Amino acid sequence: MDYKIAVIRGDGIGPEIVNEAVKVMETVGAKYGHSFGFVDVLMGGCATDAVGKSYPDGTAETCKACDAVLLGAVGGPKWGSDKPAEQRPETALLAIRKDLELFTNLRPATMRKGMEDASPLKRETAEKGFDIMMVRELTGGIYFGKRDRYQTEDRGEEATDLMTYSEMEIERIGRQAFELARLRSKKVTSVDKANVLATSRLWREVMHRLAKEYPDVTYEDMLVDNCAMQIVRDPGQFDVVVTENMFGDILSDEASQVTGSIGLLPSASLGAQAPGLYEPIHGSAPDIAGQDKANPMATILSVAMMFRYSFKLAAEADAIENAVDAVLGEGWHTADIAGDPEKLVGCRKMGELIRAHI
Ligand code: IPM
Ligand code: MG
Repeated sequence: MDYKIAVIRGDGIGPEIVNEAVKVMETVGAKYGHSFGFVDVLMGGCATDAVGKSYPDGTAETCKACDAVLLGAVGGPKWGSDKPAEQRPETALLAIRKDLELFTNLRPATMRKGMEDASPLKRETAEKGFDIMMVRELTGGIYFGKRDRYQTEDRGEEATDLMTYSEMEIERIGRQAFELARLRSKKVTSVDKANVLATSRLWREVMHRLAKEYPDVTYEDMLVDNCAMQIVRDPGQFDVVVTENMFGDILSDEASQVTGSIGLLPSASLGAQAPGLYEPIHGSAPDIAGQDKANPMATILSVAMMFRYSFKLAAEADAIENAVDAVLGEGWHTADIAGDPEKLVGCRKMGELIRAHI
């Protein structure tokens, strides 16, 4: 098959990690008989520098004409929160999610063999292993609600961010979670703050309704503060975790860290139709940009998710994931992962090692 991929290299380490991922796609293509056409899309701080805004006109249209989108990372101190919204890379990220209607964000956090020492978990907890599929709602909630900032009479300035969820939004993300659980260990943990928030109480009601439609899936509610604690206490208890946008943002960073490195975690953002968007969950790491130090694994594993979810190419996805596991199993690591100094490699070398295993 022929696939057209929109490639957003972005800022910081974005270009170098995407380079390795693109080469992995070509290696897989050569082996399994697929070809890929890559369309470069300018977005992020680099777009602000080039054309004055982080999300240039036509970005969504270009992406929509492709089968999938691969994104490196956007952001950096140069385009900080003191800059106008249209110049900030984060604005572009939220806009593309909204424009492509990518309401489902899958963030798997797995304890990979060989990473137990790098994990901050207690040895016995790490050795038990875990395989969490974090399902984050991505186009609703407080990140997309009305914001305001204004002067008050007697309390100085005031700011507000509104969190809103509709039954429709909750139900469609909930369904994704239950469907995924059916393909995995058949357990859904829905995370909310129903003891305080109205949005969470609606969330919980809708989830309970859905749970009745999936009697083969074990269902539980968990409060977000408790969930944050359980992820470090006993991550092995989780299978699919479904939650709203902001809780998912925070918990997925936490879950990624207990795997031993945030540099290993891929993500998929999916809507009702193509294209899906695939990106590592880490950021643009401007401090190490351009030094051949970044870990390309999360981006390469994002490509595996692209093959699995957008193209339904499971064997190709497995080949990539197995290659990453093999390289880690041999002790190779980038600087973000502790290990044998003799087996410390850079971004390019890591990409090469992974390709050699495919
Ligand atoms: C993420 C990031 C973004 C988010 C930021 C950069 C807007 O933290 O993808 O998790 O909050 O979604
Ligand atoms: Mg985040």
